[in-house]
Amino acid sequence: MKKYHIYNHSSENMPELKEASIDFLFTDPPWNIGVKFGKRIDYHVDNRYKKLICKVIKEIKRVIKPTGICLVEVPEKVSFKGKSQELKKKYIMWFKSHGFFYIGSEKLIYKCDTGFKGKITPLAKWKKEKPKNAFSEEVFLLIFSKNKLIKKKKLKKEKSYTSLAKEGHPCPSNKKLIKNILNVYFKKNMNVLDPFMGTANIGIEVLKKGGVFWGYEIVKDYFYIAKRKFMRLDKN
Ligand SMILES: C[S@@+](CC[C@H](N)C(=O)[O-])C[C@H]1O[C@@H](n2cnc3c(N)ncnc32)[C@H](O)[C@@H]1O
Repeated sequence: MKKYHIYNHSSENMPELKEASIDFLFTDPPWNIGVKFGKRIDYHVDNRYKKLICKVIKEIKRVIKPTGICLVEVPEKVSFKGKSQELKKKYIMWFKSHGFFYIGSEKLIYKCDTGFKGKITPLAKWKKEKPKNAFSEEVFLLIFSKNKLIKKKKLKKEKSYTSLAKEGHPCPSNKKLIKNILNVYFKKNMNVLDPFMGTANIGIEVLKKGGVFWGYEIVKDYFYIAKRKFMRLDKN
């Protein structure tokens, strides 16, 4: 059986996935703050960001099992181009409006500079001079389920996580965080979905743990980096 299934198109439609086939979703979505993903700028005016995320959530609802859990990494507030957005509140509202139950959140301290306008701020500078347009250091892991009886689990406490541009991607997920999450939520042979996979850092850890990964990425360059990483893992 194939252990990874990755697609280079928008996760607004995931026709490759059957209804109720996914056990676990973990994703770090674009936050609408102007990060450059390849040639695409992660910034939508008006209601277009909401439309994009809600279309993806609708697909998630279709493909996730009744026992499924979704973890979504978002900051509480972001501000870009003078506009402030309360992302945590919005995501909770959007998931709930699609029939998901909000189980709770875990606060993560993220020391991070995700390559705003292509510039990287060294970590040491972060505390002194926060980059303009940057988001708060507090990132939340929001936990949703299709079934309201599912209980929140606790992650192992880590002091902080970092995200630094790597492999040509402006904000790859932190491996320590992925491992921490999988140690708590993952069970062997689970089908795991990341609808915004980037260079598949989540996917690679899922495979290492014995799961099956499904991922979507809209930027070709990141998709091919991910593909090469899976092929390398296959060889070893
Ligand atoms: C925050 S990054 C995820 C990083 C990833 N966790 C990693 O470790 O590389 C969000 C990703 O979503 C991708 N993306 C944005 N809109 C998308 C869409 N509609 N469908 C699929 N991927 C999308 C971006 O290109 C970007 O790589």
